[in-house]
Amino acid sequence: MTKIETVTVEREGKVAIVTLNRPNKRNAMSPQLHLDMTQVLDELRDDDTINVVVITGAGQAFCAGMDLKEFFIKNRDDGAMFEKAFRASVEWRGRTLRYYPKVTIAMINGDCFGGAFSIVEGCDLAVAANEARIGLSEINFKIFPGGSVSKSLANLLSPRDALFYGLTGRPFDGVEAARIGLVNYATPAEGLRANVLALAKEIAAKDGAALRATKDGYRFSLEMSWEASMDYTLAKQDQLTMRQGGAWQDQGIGGFLDKKYKPGLSALEG
Ligand code: COA
Repeated sequence: MTKIETVTVEREGKVAIVTLNRPNKRNAMSPQLHLDMTQVLDELRDDDTINVVVITGAGQAFCAGMDLKEFFIKNRDDGAMFEKAFRASVEWRGRTLRYYPKVTIAMINGDCFGGAFSIVEGCDLAVAANEARIGLSEINFKIFPGGSVSKSLANLLSPRDALFYGLTGRPFDGVEAARIGLVNYATPAEGLRANVLALAKEIAAKDGAALRATKDGYRFSLEMSWEASMDYTLAKQDQLTMRQGGAWQDQGIGGFLDKKYKPGLSALEG
């Protein structure tokens, strides 16, 4: 097991806050950071006390994308090292986050460029500071949104917005990020953490197995025919019943029938 050098983890109840921690480099993703994120997500995956993982950055940046020096220049002549770092970088953002068994929220506290888009898109939800500086800067240094970023753009943005920002490289703020659907909403930087933690705790209070099934049902249905999805979600319902011991029927529906709460308006307490 390698030592984690570039990422910190805090816990608040059922919420884990994972912070990219290279503030002096604007949290740019070095090969070490990719290995660290791989390990941290692996450890949190099996932690039953955690329902929601928030990903953010230390200092003034969320993440300035790939570490242009450490990732692209240092390993330039070492094919095996580049391959290892590249695979780790694509896996944790493109696959691990997407199919993660916990809910994930990107908290964009500041600068967010290039490869960082794949973190944002890989997360289930995203909230930005109004003042954040966000951009597809690749074109500005004579390249294009490579790795998992092109696919992230295709998944999340409209063709007009993806190509407008991909072709101009113009930076935009959190308010614009919300308008184009890169994030759910934007809020002043000052209250960002409190806002996101309140959202994370609201979600974390719900049934963990049902949260996971909600994500799986959506993400896998995207890739299925209508018939396959119907069969999959029926099987998923049985899996959920097994994972929670039938809580959705006994407590969930039972509580409604006993007039303890109205699920259309709020969740059952406890
Ligand atoms: N890769 C490597 N180092 C980076 C980096 C990146 N993506 N982004 C920032 N840094 C480093 C700078 O080299 C600098 O290091 P130094 O102090 O050792 O010289 C440090 O972080 C601070 O950066 P600086 O440019 O001085 O900060 P700033 O607040 O004025 O500007 C950015 C911040 C993010 C706008 C600017 O650094 C930038 O444009 N970075 C590149 C962003 C990018 O194109 N990312 C896409 C990669 S896929």
